[in-house]
Amino acid sequence: GMPKHVKIGEVGPRDGLQNEKNTVPTSVKVELVQKLVSCGLPVVEVTGFVSPKWVPQLSDAKDVMEAVKDLEGVRLPVLTPNMKGFEAAVAAGAKEVAVFVSASESFSKSNINCSIEESLARYRAVTSAAKKMSILVRGYVSCAIGCPVEGAISPLKVAYVAKELHDMGCFEISLGDTIGIATPGAVVPMLEAVMAVVPVEKLAVHFHDTYGQSLSNILVSLQMGISTIDSSVAGLGGCPYAKGASGNVSTEDVVYILNGLGIKTNVDLHKLLLAGEFISKYLGRPSGSKAAIALSGG
Ligand code: HMG
Ligand code: MG
Repeated sequence: GMPKHVKIGEVGPRDGLQNEKNTVPTSVKVELVQKLVSCGLPVVEVTGFVSPKWVPQLSDAKDVMEAVKDLEGVRLPVLTPNMKGFEAAVAAGAKEVAVFVSASESFSKSNINCSIEESLARYRAVTSAAKKMSILVRGYVSCAIGCPVEGAISPLKVAYVAKELHDMGCFEISLGDTIGIATPGAVVPMLEAVMAVVPVEKLAVHFHDTYGQSLSNILVSLQMGISTIDSSVAGLGGCPYAKGASGNVSTEDVVYILNGLGIKTNVDLHKLLLAGEFISKYLGRPSGSKAAIALSGG
């Protein structure tokens, strides 16, 4: 049945801002994270310790992390693609990191410049170093539904990498529809395959909203017992290595649907609207959240 409580993982400051054409100043990123934390969100993904040549938008990862690392009552993970990123993240004060493996060979190459198996070997090094330091590691599976190059991805491939991440010690596995093509028709068999090898309470879903299907996908995921949902304030986002992919499902829309279902999130929707207004104003464009636009009076 449906969960009574859902943990929302806010990914806007990372997944959202990594994809902006113009680099957002460090001070704006820091203020956004602070505002998101004040909403009661349990998890706010802050930034990525990735190559500044690959993702220049996050080249201030160290400064952003150092400015927010002491915020309390929240988990503040950061992306780490390898040991170099892991070491830099820990040095900046990160207590939780996230690794990201692709279920598609072509996307692995274009996103992190190595094969799936090479990336799993890198992440085994990260998870074993993290374990010694009591640092939690989240695992992402990107292209869990489809790949910009290969098209549809078999649920068995997704299950394979999800199990590898689980076996190496990731405490949670987030299944990402990187390019936002999923419908419930594809989500159900993918989740069935992954749930056969990883316990459902360790799974999260991460939908991008390219085709406007995210809320439907979230509803079927909830019905299958998923209780962790990634989203991004104002629907910020996309992936720089997945052309045409739009932002994540917006956090405002997710809180709105969960409120309607009577599922608790601990998130203050009013404060969340203010955080969304803050970043939308800065970026100079309307919010990507329909709920935010409606609740703010159009
Ligand atoms: P590479 O070029 O193969 O790296 O990139 P390399 O190991 O050959 O090193 C080349 C240079 O990069 C060296 O510097 C390294 O020191 C440096 P040089 O000697 O030339 O001066 N380097 C680094 N610098 C900073 N931080 C690091 C780092 N590692 C090496 N961590 C690499 C490989 C993985 C680094 C690169 O491809 C990369 O950073 N990729 C990240 C791409 C990315 O961030 N994509 C978006 C996030 S994934 C996503 O959005 C999907 C998700 O949301 C889920 C979903 O939606 O499905 C998670
Ligand atoms: Mg994403």
